[in-house]
Amino acid sequence: GRCVVAVDGPSGSGKSTVSRRLAVSLDARYLDTGAMYRALTWAVLRSGVDLTDAESVAKVAGEVDLRIGTDPRGYGVTADGVTIDKEIRGPEVTGAVSAVAAVPAVRAMLVTRQQEMIANAGRIVVEGRDIGSVVAPDADLKVFLTASEVARAQRRSAEDAADVAVTAADLARRDKLDSTRKVNPLQQAPDAVVLDTTELGIDEVVARLHDLLTE
Ligand code: CDP
Repeated sequence: GRCVVAVDGPSGSGKSTVSRRLAVSLDARYLDTGAMYRALTWAVLRSGVDLTDAESVAKVAGEVDLRIGTDPRGYGVTADGVTIDKEIRGPEVTGAVSAVAAVPAVRAMLVTRQQEMIANAGRIVVEGRDIGSVVAPDADLKVFLTASEVARAQRRSAEDAADVAVTAADLARRDKLDSTRKVNPLQQAPDAVVLDTTELGIDEVVARLHDLLTE
C-alpha cells in the first residue's frame, strides 16, 4: 500500500545514505529533493543571471526542463536534456544553492513537483529540509536526523575528499542560510522522530526506522 517516509535534517546528518537504504529495504521509490534544488541552481548559474535577483532566478527556474529519477539504487538528474549528476555536487552549485532555494517562487514550483511525484509513487522515501513540515505533512513516518557539527563535517569532507575545516565552514554557512530563510526553513516537524546519528551506524539507523514503520 501507500507509504510515505519524510527524512529531514542538515548536511552530513546521514540523510541520503539512510534514505536510499531504507527505500531499498521497503521496496519503495526515493526522491532526493536537494538534487532538485541543486539542478535548478546549475541552470541559474549557466544562465548567468544575478543570484540576488529573485525574479530572474525564478524565471530561469520556471523555464528549465528538470528531470529526476526515483530509483534508490541510482537515479539520474537532467536539465534541458543535459546529464548533470556530477555538476550538481560541485563547489559552484554548493556555493549558490542555498540562495536559489530561498527564493519563494522556486520553492513553490519544486514543492508542487515533489507532491506530484509523491502522489504518483505511492511508496516513497523523500529526503530534504522541509519534507515533514511542508511537502508531505501527512507522511506515515517523519524522521529528523541530526549529528554533531564535527561528525557532519568529517563525513562530508570524507565523501568529497575535501579539507575538513573548509567543509565545516561551508556546512555552517548553509545551515545558517537554510534555517533562517523566510519561506520553509529547515525545521523539525513537531511529530518527527529525532535521531542523533553522531554515534549511530547507518545500519542501526535504518533498522530503527524500519522497526518504527512495521511496529
Ligand atoms: O547533501 P546536502 O545535505 O549537502 O544538501 P542537499 O540535500 O543536496 O541540499 C542542497 C541545498 O538545497 C540545501 O542546502 C538547501 O539550501 C536546499 N534544499 C532545500 O532548501 N529544501 C529541500 N527540501 C532540500 C534542499
